[in-house]
Amino acid sequence: MKPLRFVCMAGVAFIALVFFPSHSFTGQAEEATETARLLAILLDAGRVTIAKNQDLINDPARGDKGFTPEVFEKQLDEEFRRRTGFSLGQLEKENIPEMAKPLLVRLLEESKKTIASYQPVINLMGVRYKGLIPATFGTETASRFHNWSGVYLKQTAPQSFVRNPKNAPDSYEAEAFTRLASKSSGLNSDHVQSEVVDQGQSVRVMLPLFYGKPCLTCHGEPKGQRDISGYPREGAKEGELGGAISVRISLK
Ligand code: HEC
Repeated sequence: MKPLRFVCMAGVAFIALVFFPSHSFTGQAEEATETARLLAILLDAGRVTIAKNQDLINDPARGDKGFTPEVFEKQLDEEFRRRTGFSLGQLEKENIPEMAKPLLVRLLEESKKTIASYQPVINLMGVRYKGLIPATFGTETASRFHNWSGVYLKQTAPQSFVRNPKNAPDSYEAEAFTRLASKSSGLNSDHVQSEVVDQGQSVRVMLPLFYGKPCLTCHGEPKGQRDISGYPREGAKEGELGGAISVRISLK
């Protein structure tokens, strides 16, 4: 009885392997998920690097700021390494999915292009608001990266916080925000939410962004009063879920 059962089980396993080759699929979904996570962190690391240099960028008393694409890249690399353990300077050698490497290289290039395009403006004297803030960096960089790669990369926010209609959440993102908001998460944690969707056709990853003190000069109180960029403040609180970097990668 026993040997026969063993043979049957082996047969079932064989059929399952041939008709449901789930192993390679799982591998691909895992690779895409890790790729999406790294892309989200790289875009956010660029945002954080802008935030750290915001006073310098805004300084009306200074002409040449020395905030070149190269200076930006060095700080970006430090931030990315701190959060992922990987160095942008030697991605080839790092233990990351092969599919992630050309995408990260391109996202880095597009990030530097954004900084390059703002050079004439940020080196102007006498102007305080120059349009280069974490959000414009994120929107512009992500949109050029998306055009090149076809990978959906977006900075979005819960509907009540949306300023730029281009960043409005789609139905998946809107639902993910209600799930994320119910979990109380710490500031700046890199806890991503990931899921295989569309009947296994794609993966979606959301990196939540929480409002810290520096964000509140624009997004905080007094609600309704215009900030330096001209938008009305949202009246947000410190630690509140302010948005997310959202990535979708097709598995086809
Ligand atoms: C100098 C003012 C300013 C600061 C500081 C600032 N933001 Fe924003 N934020 C904006 C503006 C302006 C936009 C809309 C940008 C656009 O038009 O694409 C925006 C957009 C966003 C978006 C995209 C969704 C949307 O509304 O279009 C998110 C998410 C966001 N901010 C989060 C943050 C977080 C988190 C911080 C702190 C790390 C922060 N912001 C700091 C001004 C600011």
